[in-house]
Amino acid sequence: MIKLSNVNKTYEKAIVLKNCSMTMDRGEFAFITGPSGAGKSTLLKLLYCSEKIDGGHISVDEWILSKLKKRTIPFFRRNIGVVFQDFKLLFNKSVFENVALSLRIHHMDSKEIMERVKSILKEVKLMHKSDIFPQFLSGGEQQRVVIARAMVSQPMLLLADEPTGNLDSDNTRSIMRLFREINTKGTTVLIATHNEDLYYGSGRRVFHLNNKHIEKEIVG
Ligand SMILES: Nc1ncnc2c1ncn2[C@@H]1O[C@H](COP(=O)(O)OP(=O)(O)OP(=O)(O)O)[C@@H](O)[C@H]1O
Ligand SMILES: [Mg+2]
Repeated sequence: MIKLSNVNKTYEKAIVLKNCSMTMDRGEFAFITGPSGAGKSTLLKLLYCSEKIDGGHISVDEWILSKLKKRTIPFFRRNIGVVFQDFKLLFNKSVFENVALSLRIHHMDSKEIMERVKSILKEVKLMHKSDIFPQFLSGGEQQRVVIARAMVSQPMLLLADEPTGNLDSDNTRSIMRLFREINTKGTTVLIATHNEDLYYGSGRRVFHLNNKHIEKEIVG
C-alpha cells in the first residue's frame, strides 16, 4: 500500500529525510514515532503530496507520487483521510457541513450523507454540536471534528498527525477505538505520535524516525 524507497527531503538547505525507506501493507495499522523535529509530520505530508520529495520514490497504492500531475493530486487525495494540525476546519460552516463536505465532493446522495455524518458525529460524541460553528468549540472538540471529517468517507488510507494531542484520556481511548474500527473495515492507518501510550501494548508496527531515516522498527 505504501512504499518509500531512499526518500530525500530538504527544506531550503536543511536535510530532514535522507535515504528514508519503509513499507506498509494494505489494511495495516502502524505508528511512526521519533523526537521532535525528526520529520514525522514531513513524512505524512509527503504521503499526502502536500510536500514534494527531492529524491527517491514514494508510491501509495497504484499512485507514484513524484509522477502525479498537479491536476491529478485532488483525485489522489480523495482516497486519503487526514488529521493534520494545519488542515483547518472551515469556520463559516457548521460542524455537520465540515464533516459532510468530502461526501458532497463525492456527489453522494443527501440522505446517505445525512446518515453517515450523523453516525460519525455520534461516534466522536459531537452530535449535539452538529449545527454549531467550529470557533465555538474547544480545542479537543475541534480535533474530534477533524477526525470525523477524515473518517467519514471511509478512505483507503488514514494519515493522522498527533491526532490525540488535544484530547483527554477518555476521548483518546474512544478515538483510538474508532481508528481500530475503521481499520477493521479496510482502511490502512498510519499515526504519527510522541505518545508512547498510543502504541504501547498495541501489537502494531512502530517505525522510529531518527537521524533522518527509519532507524528501527519495533512491535508496540
Ligand atoms: N515548511 C518548512 N520549511 C522549513 N523547514 C521546515 C518546514 N517544515 C518542517 N521544517 C523543519 O523540518 C524538520 C522536521 O519537521 P517536522 O515537522 O516534520 O518534525 P516532527 O517530527 O513532526 O516534529 P514534532 O514532533 O515536533 O511535530 C524540523 O527541523 C523543521 O524545522
Ligand atoms: Mg510533527
